[in-house]
Amino acid sequence: MVIGTHRPTQVLVDRLAIKANIIAEKETLTDDTDIFAVIKADAYGHGLIEVAKTAKEAGVKGFCVAIIDEAIAIREAGFSEPILILGLTQSKYAPLLAENKISATVSELNWLKEASVLLKKEQSAPLSVHLALDTGMGRIGFREADPFLETINFLKGNKDVFNFEGIFTHFATADSPDDTYFKKQMAKFNKLMAVVVDRPRYVHVSNSATSLWHAACNGNLIRMGISMYGLNPSGGEVALPYELKPAMGLTSELSFVKEIHTGDSVGYGITYQAQENEWVGTIPIGYADGVFRNLQGFKLLVDGQFCEIIGRVCMDQLMVRLPYKMPNGTKVTLIGKDGNEVITAQDVATYAGTIHYEVTCALSERVPRVYLN
Ligand SMILES: Cc1ncc(COP(=O)(O)O)c(C=O)c1O
Repeated sequence: MVIGTHRPTQVLVDRLAIKANIIAEKETLTDDTDIFAVIKADAYGHGLIEVAKTAKEAGVKGFCVAIIDEAIAIREAGFSEPILILGLTQSKYAPLLAENKISATVSELNWLKEASVLLKKEQSAPLSVHLALDTGMGRIGFREADPFLETINFLKGNKDVFNFEGIFTHFATADSPDDTYFKKQMAKFNKLMAVVVDRPRYVHVSNSATSLWHAACNGNLIRMGISMYGLNPSGGEVALPYELKPAMGLTSELSFVKEIHTGDSVGYGITYQAQENEWVGTIPIGYADGVFRNLQGFKLLVDGQFCEIIGRVCMDQLMVRLPYKMPNGTKVTLIGKDGNEVITAQDVATYAGTIHYEVTCALSERVPRVYLN
């Protein structure tokens, strides 16, 4: 992907905010509980390696990613901390995982059987394994004690190739004000855990929401994702127990300003027509950069004043109605603060009918990440 370094459109990432969020979370935890920073999907759009560095400086003990390539990228950048892949990896890559000291999530006994053949053949170092329990998320993991226990025994019987490092589950409704389903999942987790005689190094259940609102359930590892980036996992539905500082800003500039006249239209599909003479600004950012096409009507900040997106968002540009003629180069804020006004990733998400996770992850590589502090 070509990065637009000669265009005034930038994602700003405030490293101090990330650190403050990690430190605030750490203060709520007991000393025997570690934090792994969840930095999958390019650290939710904030930049994999820079966030890894920042999170490490703030005291996280390891990292979680979604896919093996993300884990290898972290190793290639020189990090030696534990890395857990939260998703499933094909068993044929077991030796590659072992070679790079990357921990695998395992959901099936058969996976271990296939992996053990390859690991023995390649005389690999032991592969660290976390067993996933599906307590109600319905995504990956053991659902019954039967194959779960047999799998633990298989791990124990193959210590030359496996290091049984963890057991975890993931909640579907930890960010909801209604904890009925959460409690059901926790009960199922406790039931499955009852068959475990020797606990592995890590037993973990907490993403951001679980640690924020159900901290009593925390095991000894927090998989801290969205709250590290300063966003409330519930999108604001549930109040935060401590303040979070949003780390991401998105800014650009007016690249072209013109006056249009009553009846003139703007954009593809002529979905906007001027009701009077008005000033229109063009901004060099579009849906190829991750600004959703359905944001027509959303208000951005131009020089600290809310201005409506008029016409459809194009691939690389969008247009706004200005209150008066403003010069080319005027600052535009799509996410963040300008003067007394602020636009949050949640504001964008609410307008677009999605969640703030999708807003930050959608920002494409084409937009350079600029690190502050
Ligand atoms: C298994 C697992 N744990 C932790 C996380 C981090 O979640 P959050 O960003 O809500 O903290 C995720 C994210 O999707 C996940 O899939």
